[in-house]
Amino acid sequence: MPPENSVAFYLALRKAGVPAELHVYERGKHGVGLAPSDPVLSTWAQRLADWLRVRGLLAPPRRRGVNSRLGGNMSRITELHCNGRRVKLPGMGAEPERALLGVLRDDLDLTGTKYGCGEGQCGACTVLVDGAAVRSCITSVGSVAGKKITTIEGLERNGRLHPVQSAFLEAGALQCGYCTPGMIMSGVALVAKNRNPAPAEIAAAMQGNVCRCGTYPRIVKAIQAAARGGAR
Ligand code: FES
Ligand code: FES
Repeated sequence: MPPENSVAFYLALRKAGVPAELHVYERGKHGVGLAPSDPVLSTWAQRLADWLRVRGLLAPPRRRGVNSRLGGNMSRITELHCNGRRVKLPGMGAEPERALLGVLRDDLDLTGTKYGCGEGQCGACTVLVDGAAVRSCITSVGSVAGKKITTIEGLERNGRLHPVQSAFLEAGALQCGYCTPGMIMSGVALVAKNRNPAPAEIAAAMQGNVCRCGTYPRIVKAIQAAARGGAR
């Protein structure tokens, strides 16, 4: 018999209308499965899986399609439009539910995009999708297939840094640098829309990006300078 806590969890989920399944694999081994056809649960389960994988507690995703019995989508993402060109994903591609962050870092070696919280709270993983800043840790790769993705690696043109990157360097707007790629991507999205943002507007637009080193005043100065200098 599975212990009471799994059964209780399963019953609570079912009572709440959540499409859960109770699995008893063998004596003493059991678990509660969440049907990935539910979009909220699918995202939640994917984030948990990515969190466990980053810590080496879960094996890499299987290279086979998602089990259609559970309502998954069999079609895999084999190609992305990233940093101005079409790039093939290695092997058989990625399950559409995988987090974009994991695909960028693990499959495409674009490690400039950072893993911070994994929950959409810190902004370290920010990339642009069709010009808008998005948190790649909570964005499924399936939702961005066919869209234009830009990572920090894609900002430089012909060997020249993007004006926001140059402004960060000139203002010394970084300390450890971990938040910097995400800050710059959010800054690029902002200055593309607003060529003369006030400090309060910058602070509001960058609210989702956290800097543990506290370089906020310099970050605001850098973004203002880039915007005034005519960022592309
Ligand atoms: S890692 Fe994505 S928001 Fe923190
Ligand atoms: S520079 Fe260290 S977290 Fe921002």
